[in-house]
Amino acid sequence: MFWGPFAEGRNNFFHNETLLKIASKYKRTVAQVALRFLTQEGVIVIPKSVNKERMIENFDIFDFKLADEDLKKIRTLDTKSSLFFSHYDPDLVQMLINYAKYSVCKW
Ligand SMILES: NC(=O)c1ccc[n+]([C@@H]2O[C@H](COP(=O)([O-])OP(=O)(O)OC[C@H]3O[C@@H](n4cnc5c(N)ncnc54)[C@H](OP(=O)(O)O)[C@@H]3O)[C@@H](O)[C@H]2O)c1
Repeated sequence: MFWGPFAEGRNNFFHNETLLKIASKYKRTVAQVALRFLTQEGVIVIPKSVNKERMIENFDIFDFKLADEDLKKIRTLDTKSSLFFSHYDPDLVQMLINYAKYSVCKW
């Protein structure tokens, strides 16, 4: 499962050259290519939009398929590090433990 499938727009996500080229090839948007890519990779996506047209656009990804060559190009964009935080960071792990211990959250 993947929240933030557009990286919250960080790193100029919607203007990424590779994604723009692939979007143009399929006559789709960058958002649709990203969601289609993740779906084809077997990832459940949770995109967020407050805009009705974009919500409709984000659902409209089930009538096209990205070719292997395009999946490969998109995979190269993976920097192997989170834009948000690392669960391997001891300070973050400690913070989460403290949060669980002292909050009403019982997980
Ligand atoms: N990021 C986190 O830390 C986190 C953690 C837990 C749960 N979640 C949940 O996961 C979901 C993911 O949302 P997110 O905000 O984190 O990141 P996201 O889905 O990667 O990005 C949302 C951003 O993309 C824009 N957007 C959405 N569809 C678009 C489209 N078709 N074209 C252009 N821009 C588009 C949205 O703008 P508009 O709204 O203006 O369309 C918003 O600025 C949310 O429900 C969130 O509550 C997130």
